[in-house]
Amino acid sequence: MTVKEIMVIGAGQMGAGIALVFARSGYEVKLYDADIEALRRGKQYIEKVFEKDIAKGKMEADTKEKALNRLQLVVDLEADPITADFIIEAVVEKLEVKKEVFRKLDELAPTHTIFATNTSSLPITEIAAVTGRAEQFIGMHFMNPVPVMKLVEIIRGLETSESTCQTVQELTEALGKQDVEVKDFPGFVSNRILMPMINEAVYTVFEGIASIEDVDQVMKLGMNHPMGPLQLADFIGLDTCLSIMEILHEGFGDSKYRPCPLLRQYVQAGRLGKKAGRGFYTYSD
Ligand code: NAI
Repeated sequence: MTVKEIMVIGAGQMGAGIALVFARSGYEVKLYDADIEALRRGKQYIEKVFEKDIAKGKMEADTKEKALNRLQLVVDLEADPITADFIIEAVVEKLEVKKEVFRKLDELAPTHTIFATNTSSLPITEIAAVTGRAEQFIGMHFMNPVPVMKLVEIIRGLETSESTCQTVQELTEALGKQDVEVKDFPGFVSNRILMPMINEAVYTVFEGIASIEDVDQVMKLGMNHPMGPLQLADFIGLDTCLSIMEILHEGFGDSKYRPCPLLRQYVQAGRLGKKAGRGFYTYSD
C-alpha cells in the first residue's frame, strides 16, 4: 500500500519525534494531542531539532521550511474528516486510554487506514481487538529520541496481515531506520530486557547500596553504557517506566518484575524525569 499521509496521536516526547521523522522524510503529517499545550510544545520541539540540525550543517533552511509546511496540528479530532493512510498512536502507556483512542479512530478513519501503536509493552492483539480492523493493526515501537535512534521494533498482533507488516517495514526503511520483528509478549524484547535493569538500578539506590550518581557511573564506566540506567529512566519518563514494570509484573505473574517502591514514590511525587524537570536528577532546560 502507498502511504502518503500520516496521522500521529499524542504529541509528547515520542509523538512529536515520530511526527518529525515522517515530515522530514517527505510525508504529509497531522499531529493531534488532547492537550493543546502538549501540541504547542511538540511543535516547538520539532522546530528546535530542525534548528540544531541546520546549525550542525545536517539540514538546509529550505528543507526545514518544507518539512514544517508538511506538518499540520490538529486541535479537534472530529472537526474535519480524517484522510490519513496510516495512523500511529503515542499517548500515555495505559491500556484503557489506548483502547478508547482506537475505538474512536475506528469510527472516524477511512476503512483503508492502517493503525499502529507505539506502545512500549502493552498487548497489540488486545488493543487491536477493540477495532474492526485487527488485520490492519500493528505495533510500531520507536526508540527515544526518535530522530536519532535507528531501531523500530515491529510487533504483529495475532490477526495482523502480511501486507500490513510489509507496509510498516517499508515505512521504517523510508525513515532511514531498521526494523526487528518480535512476538506480541509483555515488554516485547527491548523493554523486557531494559526495564528490569532500570528497576534493579532503582532498587540498589532504594536499598542504600550506592548513590544515584554512583549507580550510573558503574554502568557507564564499567559496562560502557553511554548513559547510566537512572539517567536513562529520567529520559524515558518515570511514569512510563512504572507502567511498563506493572505490565511486565502482571503479564508474567512473576515477582522478579515487582516495581521498586522508590520508583512508585517518585511518580507519586510528580518527579517524572526530564519532561517534568525533576526525576533522579534535576533539569533546568
Ligand atoms: P508523554 O507523556 O511525553 O506524552 C503522552 C502524550 O499523550 C501527552 O502529550 C498527552 O497529552 C497525550 N494524551 C494522553 N491521552 C490522550 C488522548 N486520549 N488523546 C490524545 N492524546 C493524549 O509520553 P511519551 O514518552 O511520549 O510516551 C508515549 C507512548 O510511547 C507510550 O505508550 C510509551 O510507552 C511509548 N514509548 C515511550 C518511550 C520513551 O522513552 N518515553 C520509548 C518508546 C515508546
